[in-house]
Amino acid sequence: MTTASVWVCAFLLGSIPFGLLIARLKKIDIRQEGSGNIGATNVARTLGRTAGILTLIGDCGKGYLACWLAATTLTAPWQIAGAALLAFLGHVFSLFLKFKGGKGIATGLGIYLFLMPAAAGAGALLFIVLVGVTGYVSIGSLAAAVAIPVLGWAFQAPPPYVAVAGVAALLTFYKHKDNLARLRAGTESKFLKK
Ligand code: G3P
Repeated sequence: MTTASVWVCAFLLGSIPFGLLIARLKKIDIRQEGSGNIGATNVARTLGRTAGILTLIGDCGKGYLACWLAATTLTAPWQIAGAALLAFLGHVFSLFLKFKGGKGIATGLGIYLFLMPAAAGAGALLFIVLVGVTGYVSIGSLAAAVAIPVLGWAFQAPPPYVAVAGVAALLTFYKHKDNLARLRAGTESKFLKK
């Protein structure tokens, strides 16, 4: 496969809106519920833990799969990093949702579990601790998004992978702008609380 075809596959994989599809099975448009996000947190908040976990697996899995596909067909880190970034962009600006989409946390997790598992593990731990302490998934997500490129750099991951994590962190903050406004106003929803 050529680099371009792998990158197109990565973007298409990233574009699959698992949360929207899972909620649609229950005749719900997840974009009209809770925070309006198509991610695992809002699916869990609206439809319960099982639907949330399935969304997490789907969104995380597509990020991992895109990187696996790239790593088995391409060689240079920049080629694999390109596929990872395109999978992330596919989730955030989905081809199937008129270039709207999610916030990239679960898809990012899948990407980092493949590209830099030590950083992903440490970032996931930070996420779990912060969500446990604050009750806000968005705080855990934002902190992990910042931590991952720093951890990747500290663990000496290839620079193109660290760069992907840096770009993804910026996009994560942009996609959380409503969460940040709600956190400032004290109106952000706590996890699993309607
Ligand atoms: O993974 C997204 C999370 O950080 C926030 O989700 O639904 O509360 O906007 P939500």
